[in-house]
Amino acid sequence: MAFQWAKSYLPGSLYGRAALILLVPILALQLVVSIVFIQRHYEGVTEQMSRNVALELRYILQIVNAAGSVDAANAEFAQLAEPLAFELALPAELPALDRIGSLDLSGRAMVETLRAEFPAARRFDLSINRQVWVWIETDHGILSAMFDRRRVSASNPHQLLVLMVFVGLFLALISIVFLRNQLRPIRRLARASEAFGKGRVVEYRPAGAIEVRAAGSAFLDMRSRIERQIEQRTMMLSGVSHDLRTPLTRLKLGLSMADGDEDAEALLKDVEDMERLLDEFLAFARDDSLDDPAEVDATALVRGVVEKFAASGASVRLVSGQDNQRVTLRPVAVSRALENLIGNAVRYAGMCEVSVISSDRALRVSVEDDGPGIPQDQRSDALKPFVRLDAARNQNRGSGVGLGLAIAHDIARRHGGVLELQDSERLGGLKADLVLAR
Ligand SMILES: Nc1ncnc2c1ncn2[C@@H]1O[C@H](COP(=O)(O)OP(=O)(O)OP(=O)(O)O)[C@@H](O)[C@H]1O
Ligand SMILES: [Mg+2]
Repeated sequence: MAFQWAKSYLPGSLYGRAALILLVPILALQLVVSIVFIQRHYEGVTEQMSRNVALELRYILQIVNAAGSVDAANAEFAQLAEPLAFELALPAELPALDRIGSLDLSGRAMVETLRAEFPAARRFDLSINRQVWVWIETDHGILSAMFDRRRVSASNPHQLLVLMVFVGLFLALISIVFLRNQLRPIRRLARASEAFGKGRVVEYRPAGAIEVRAAGSAFLDMRSRIERQIEQRTMMLSGVSHDLRTPLTRLKLGLSMADGDEDAEALLKDVEDMERLLDEFLAFARDDSLDDPAEVDATALVRGVVEKFAASGASVRLVSGQDNQRVTLRPVAVSRALENLIGNAVRYAGMCEVSVISSDRALRVSVEDDGPGIPQDQRSDALKPFVRLDAARNQNRGSGVGLGLAIAHDIARRHGGVLELQDSERLGGLKADLVLAR
């Protein structure tokens, strides 16, 4: 795109862009008006008035030239100077140079006009405030004439410009205040959706312009639908788990009656596995629904889980993590996700190292082990519920149901994050990163 480069110079926020859209036309208008005004009006008016002065000067020159002598000319001045408002002196000394300020635009315009209209004018001096001095060549020598500068320039021409700038600033200020009010509802909507993406529900009421309010209501509808779905899922999970428990207990009881039978013993083990699975389900559903987001010290939470494993004799260590990382999360759910990850490491590998890295956007808890890892092409499968990878890997490793990674992934997503599976460079096994948005 041709304008791609310009993008990096433009403000990114809606507020900045809107302010720009507002200010650029105002500034452009002021610039154009100022230029046109200075050129046309300011200089044009000066030119016209200068032409009148030139006529008067021509008349004075004619009188001087018609007079018989310098004294006669001076005698005429007594009558002329007063009504024409000139100060005249004859003879006078011709200065060597003109004195006109380089920024004196109207002065330059005036001198140019006078020179064109009245060639007898030889020198000009505008250096004295409000006075214009002209030296004129006459038949009786050099005549100096002085008149009021106000006769040739528009009075207070800058007033319009000053007024324009101040009115422009004032209007811009008012629009910026209004703009801010218009943008507030958009920002609030953004904040509410961002929080919801991280699994937090903040209070939000649609407000502002019709379009913003429509987006807000759509967001609220979406939020309540998702909440309802989660609630339904939780209820279904716990309902099914709960209802299955009763027949399972009966089954277990029945099988335990058949003492000594080898088949029955295997079946009993299966039933116990199923019971554990149901417990998992039930616990997950319950944790999920009871757990409210809270601000906790993330490293302390991770340390708690690690210490629980270490206490039971597993080789699990917390290798890095800054203290006092306040993060808002669902503590029970996150502990559960970590337990699943560390549990896997303990089950499928020998040693496990945990580290906590936090940035201002995310919290990353890495669980690394020295086991066989999970091949790249099986990683996305491993995250699915009830998926257990090749049997060889799992031999004699206790019987899981294939829910651990799925649950951890789910919890990460409900915190606006992900569960990433990678190769552990340090230990050679699996590196499971639980990433949570802050
Ligand atoms: N740290 C690991 N090293 C090697 N393989 C792993 C590791 N973690 C998980 N896996 C593989 O991924 C599969 C899925 O793991 P997941 O935790 O979801 O289920 P599970 O451990 O088999 O059962 P559950 O956790 O429900 O008791 C496991 O069966 C195992 O093959
Ligand atoms: Mg597991």
